[in-house]
Amino acid sequence: MSANSNVSHWKYSNLLNNQNNRFNKEEILKILSAKDIDESYNTISKWKNYKPTPLILLNKLNEKLRLNKIFYKDESKRFGLKSFKALGGAYAVEKIIKNNDKKIISTATAGNHGRSVAWGSQKNNLECKIFISKFVSESRAEVMRSFGAEVIRINGNYDDSLNECIKQSKENNWQIVQDVAWKNYELVPKLTMAGYSVMMKEISDQIKNDKISHVILQAGVGGMAAAMIAGIARYLNHIPEIIIVEPENAACVLESIKTGKIEKIEIKKESIMGGMSCGEPSLIPWQILKNAVNSCVTVSDDYVSKTVKYLANCELSDEKVIGGECSTPGIISLIGLCNDEKAREKIKLNEDSNVLVFGCEGDADENLYQELLNKID
Ligand SMILES: Cc1ncc(COP(=O)(O)O)c(C=O)c1O
Repeated sequence: MSANSNVSHWKYSNLLNNQNNRFNKEEILKILSAKDIDESYNTISKWKNYKPTPLILLNKLNEKLRLNKIFYKDESKRFGLKSFKALGGAYAVEKIIKNNDKKIISTATAGNHGRSVAWGSQKNNLECKIFISKFVSESRAEVMRSFGAEVIRINGNYDDSLNECIKQSKENNWQIVQDVAWKNYELVPKLTMAGYSVMMKEISDQIKNDKISHVILQAGVGGMAAAMIAGIARYLNHIPEIIIVEPENAACVLESIKTGKIEKIEIKKESIMGGMSCGEPSLIPWQILKNAVNSCVTVSDDYVSKTVKYLANCELSDEKVIGGECSTPGIISLIGLCNDEKAREKIKLNEDSNVLVFGCEGDADENLYQELLNKID
């Protein structure tokens, strides 16, 4: 890394050890089954233009942090949709319409999930209605429209957009394809998670003889993280240290792990990592997270734009990486943890460690990405 990319002062905000940690493969695969996981890979890997996304070595960063290897799963290249969400919503649309005769799909979204649902609906010749809050950028809405969806903006936050989506869907007999679970609405979120698990299948092939010692998973409502844990249970023959990372202002998984039950928190300030700015873990993911997670860490928004720039300017790897805001927290937390000798020791990070982080999205919001790149820190 160059002198102007000094990260030795970076800090994480909060770190919590899970007192209830007891990883149990069988229990995890009861919640998201090996059959569901295999079926999603068999389906998605046959989609047109399917290609595993790259697993990039952050070779410059691991030297700096005195680790063996850092793997970065680059989801900016996922089906041209620029995030891992492409795997979930579109897969759920395809599966759920096989079981019913509904012809109109609906969802509420912060952006990337809606893009996937719109794309999946278009692929399956279905109409699609997408509810967004006032915080979702117009450029994200435009992309959803480009996949043929009707975008309905609600004058409220994400929860308001979801409530309106549920209300109108009930009135009109639309099929909701949501990535969060609630009482009696569990099949679609499970299908969404099964779709995400394709990432872990690819990683298990890509790492070859390396053994991942640590995995850092971003969480919003926890769907992606829980799906990766199910993927670990399905595809790896060892259990890495599992760390959840969240924005410090939206640490609903950390708060839930602290008390051992789902906690709803009030988000006082929206994080720039919009896809992760969630106040309550989703039901199904929580059943996996509560015992599988080793620790939870939180990070502030302060390092997001710097990390976006370092990725783009080859400061962390030989390759240029386009990583949007939600691609940064794994890297930020890893740097913060490595800078704290006590935390480093507690989490067993050392010269032999092979750490896996997720670059969940590319420049999915192009305007915001440019803003972050041009920000003078
Ligand atoms: C773009 C984006 N949206 C959402 C999430 C969170 O996923 P989930 O809500 O399933 O935890 C992430 C995770 O990092 C993300 O990158």
